Amino acid sequence: MRVAIIGTGYVGLTTGVCLAYIGHSVSCLDTDVSKVKMLSEGKVPIFEPYLEELLEEARPNLHFTSSYEEAIPDAEVVFIAVGTPPTPSGAPNLEYLSQAAKSVGQHVKNKFTVVVNKSTVPIGSGNWVGALLRNTYEQRSANGTLEAAVASNPEFLREGSALHDSLYPDRIVIGADEPRALEVLYSLYRPILDQTFTPPTFLPRPESVGAVPLLSTDLASAELIKYAANAFLALKISFINEIGMLAERVGADIAEVGRGIGLDSRIGPRFLNAGIGWGGSCFGKDTAALIATAEEYGLHMPIVEAARVVNKRQRDRIVEKLLTELKILKGRTIGLLGLAFKPNTDDLREAPAVEIAQKLIDRGVCVKAHDPIAGERFQQDYGHMGVQLCKNAQEVAENCDAVVLVTEWNEYRDLEWEKLGRSMRQALILDGRHILDREKLEKAGFQFIGIN
Ligand SMILES: NC(=O)c1ccc[n+]([C@@H]2O[C@H](COP(=O)([O-])OP(=O)(O)OC[C@H]3O[C@@H](n4cnc5c(N)ncnc54)[C@H](O)[C@@H]3O)[C@@H](O)[C@H]2O)c1
Repeated sequence: MRVAIIGTGYVGLTTGVCLAYIGHSVSCLDTDVSKVKMLSEGKVPIFEPYLEELLEEARPNLHFTSSYEEAIPDAEVVFIAVGTPPTPSGAPNLEYLSQAAKSVGQHVKNKFTVVVNKSTVPIGSGNWVGALLRNTYEQRSANGTLEAAVASNPEFLREGSALHDSLYPDRIVIGADEPRALEVLYSLYRPILDQTFTPPTFLPRPESVGAVPLLSTDLASAELIKYAANAFLALKISFINEIGMLAERVGADIAEVGRGIGLDSRIGPRFLNAGIGWGGSCFGKDTAALIATAEEYGLHMPIVEAARVVNKRQRDRIVEKLLTELKILKGRTIGLLGLAFKPNTDDLREAPAVEIAQKLIDRGVCVKAHDPIAGERFQQDYGHMGVQLCKNAQEVAENCDAVVLVTEWNEYRDLEWEKLGRSMRQALILDGRHILDREKLEKAGFQFIGIN
């Protein structure tokens, strides 16, 4: 099929490359000309494992452009995958979505085209995008009514394993009020649903993966599924963090508690690791948007609100713990291991490290940091904060009064702890992610603090 993807960020680019890999002809469009140039040269502007390799394999079916005129008229399916960042009120900023919808309306031809919201958008956005499309189309054209249908196809990929999640998803959700649109999306995704494509050598199909479940539903339900899924995952993390606070008081081991409840098949083991809490571009934004949507209907969402409060408290607790141990923070040097909001990505949106660094700087701390991938992006976006970026964990530790493990990158699991500790002013470590071996660290001379 001929497909256009609007927005080549984490979601749009992954979707475009995967659809091209399974055989569709894909135009990826972005208004950021520098991104398009990089991509046309085979370079990937974000860090995502195997994305560059898959792009190379899919290249014959891929085209990158900044021109709507080039991408839209021939497309049978147009995905909108632009950003929907939060506004101060919690409601998402729909400016990019609106611009994209209008631009499609200006260029779409009078033939049946399915326009798909892949961006996470508030409930009702499908109808709104439909209206924008029709109005723009009808203003420019004397051809009469537009032959397009709007669908929702929420994205569930996780940054860091985005390609795996797109080629071998747990499920695909499609929503539309017009059956024809659902049929088109079913055909588009068929190679993934039936797993008939040849897997890339570097991303083999896991043995457990069989046919992928398809949930085909109405527009509003598909839109709500995305928000409900993210809110539920966020709740799970905040729940274990709330239990963790009590565990700390009563002397229980939260890792054991998490394992103990996760073995119950009704609960499941994932998203039960206590620690600094969630970050990233989705959970914070989507829980805020869910609350904002509910408010429009006169509803409160106390459970979702509480998950947000607990998450915020976890970040404050890092600073409180350092304060308790060091007594005075002013004039101290504190090192952060990890900046990205999670391992295997360079995404810094709502990264706990950024907020923690700022809280420490506000208290007069000199902050040093390292990240295996996100350092350059941090420098570009947050260079003004004055954090001293280091080449490795050893350099971070030198002359520090404490080191905080913020992102659980694999390379931080096994460092030369004795050497690291010797180079610090005070061998104090705060494991914000429950990944370090307390006994080993204490043997290496560290004072070890965990976060439950
Ligand atoms: N990142 C994730 O893990 C993830 C997962 C699931 C869903 N989502 C949702 O997917 C959407 C996209 O997220 P992302 O992380 O890929 O965002 P992103 O910021 O990485 O990418 C958005 C891209 O859209 C481009 N863009 C903006 N306006 C445009 C326009 N009018 N025409 C063409 N291009 C335009 C931007 O230049 C940018 O490259 C959001 O709604 C997000 O909530 C993200």
